Amino acid sequence: MSEKSEAFSQLREACLQCRKCGLCSTRTNVVFGTGVDNAEVLFIGEGPGENEDLQGEPFVGRGGQLLDKMLAAVDLDRKKNIYIANIVKCRPPQNRDPLPEEQQQCIQWLREQFKILRPKIIVCLGRIAAAKIIKPDFKIMKEHGIFFEKNGVLMMAILHPAALLRNPNNKPAAFEDFLKLQEKIREVCDHTYEQEIS
Ligand code: URA
Repeated sequence: MSEKSEAFSQLREACLQCRKCGLCSTRTNVVFGTGVDNAEVLFIGEGPGENEDLQGEPFVGRGGQLLDKMLAAVDLDRKKNIYIANIVKCRPPQNRDPLPEEQQQCIQWLREQFKILRPKIIVCLGRIAAAKIIKPDFKIMKEHGIFFEKNGVLMMAILHPAALLRNPNNKPAAFEDFLKLQEKIREVCDHTYEQEIS
């Protein structure tokens, strides 16, 4: 087992026991995250929905299927070359937005995931993740697809897959953002990255 896999499995074990906020009392599963431990691109959503809570994996509902399709169009795949996690690891009841105090309690897990991965690029899925990770006043309709740099890490936000399902007119714009991401990966990620995926 690689050092990173070992670190991830220890972190996952600890995270699965977490009772730092009230979401632990209504969860079925903690949704720790999924992907490869040498990923150079980290995707971050806001928090698990019903399907994710039941299955213990992020983005597995209809939104997740759309996300996987868009990822595949630019040679990205959660089983091959990216990692996907959420700001909060447990489902907020009725899929409400995670409360600021829940995000604050939970973000330490994501920080630890980040420290293990050390990704070159972070992609926030939707406004909530972008506000927490990129900047508090992030305007998702205006600023999606734009790269920001923080502490040497490139970050961008794309529209949340659930928002794209509600408003399919925005799908072409989201696809443009994926193409920008692909270009950036070619520019800054390891050369072997693309060979690994083909
Ligand atoms: N929405 C999110 O933000 N994350 C998930 O894991 C599923 C839906």
